[in-house]
Amino acid sequence: MDNWIEIGKVEELKQKELTEFVVGKTKFAVSYKNNEFGVISGVCNHVGGPLGEGHIDGNYVVCPWHFWKFHHKTGKGEPGYEEDKVPAYNIKIEDGKLFVDLDSATKRNKLPHAPHPLTKKIEREPGGVRLVGISTTAMNKDFPRYSTSDHLLNTALDYATSKGCETKLFKLNEMNIRACEGYYSKSAKACTFPCTITQIDQSDEMEKIYDAFVHWGDAFIISTPIRWGVASSLYYKMVERMNSIQNQETIAGKHLLKNKVVGLIITGGQDNVQGVAGSMLGFFAELGCQFPQFPFIAHSRGWSAEDMENNVKYVQESKTLHDGAKALVDRIYEMASLMIGENPLEQKFNKGGRKASRER
Ligand code: FES
Repeated sequence: MDNWIEIGKVEELKQKELTEFVVGKTKFAVSYKNNEFGVISGVCNHVGGPLGEGHIDGNYVVCPWHFWKFHHKTGKGEPGYEEDKVPAYNIKIEDGKLFVDLDSATKRNKLPHAPHPLTKKIEREPGGVRLVGISTTAMNKDFPRYSTSDHLLNTALDYATSKGCETKLFKLNEMNIRACEGYYSKSAKACTFPCTITQIDQSDEMEKIYDAFVHWGDAFIISTPIRWGVASSLYYKMVERMNSIQNQETIAGKHLLKNKVVGLIITGGQDNVQGVAGSMLGFFAELGCQFPQFPFIAHSRGWSAEDMENNVKYVQESKTLHDGAKALVDRIYEMASLMIGENPLEQKFNKGGRKASRER
């Protein structure tokens, strides 16, 4: 049985290469390319992106969320992925109007795509506390100079090693990390874990940071300089990409950072330690991380201190600051030991006030 319904006037539909058309709950991607109309499902095979809001590339409709492509008339995937297809519909033109037969839909077929390795089950390997240091200084890696935040981070990691911790150090200025492209702004569901960029760009190294946070590490020390009253630009580049971890809490009810402890090292020639710490702690709190008592150490010489060479000398020689870095490790270690001990927190708590949007 045919079930024809009118989409619109041909002359009007010809004005755009791609139009979304909706009947009830069914979405269509209506295209006009090379003098031919095509109507396929408006719902992408990947995670349901709105194909009718995408664009046309050659004969293919390109999904606006993560750029999968489907033939604008047949609904088939790109060459090599033809069997990954969305429904295509019969159409006809009568009296200058375009009609689609709702009952003519071909079958949707989703080819299995191997899950990304980072989506493996979160299972902590047995062993002692694993500490990850993340240096966010933006200095030129080819012409290194003394960094107060790096120096204190190195002191902390060396001390942690002497306590028997396994450690890893990531220096963001040596890593190729692309900026977040704001997939979340297209739709909460378009922001996937791991991030879309990680899934499509092999050269992007954010994967190592995700792996450290979600799978390998128990404890984290993030060091940052203060730049104009805020943390380093590389710190923000990293945490914007970590939106994909936080987003799993709200769209999928998945808590990826379990029993993770975070501490901070903040140094700056000038001021706003409290503002920087507050912002950083707020971010990691929102990811469900834990903090030891007194979760950061910091140093700044105040707004009017322009003699940076003296600041460098001060940090290099300050026993108090280096002892402070070690004491921070002690506090983090203790907290992490509790978290991963024989009775790790269940973490099945009620996220009152932070419920997943789908639960509203
Ligand atoms: S490419 Fe369409 S939803 Fe991801």
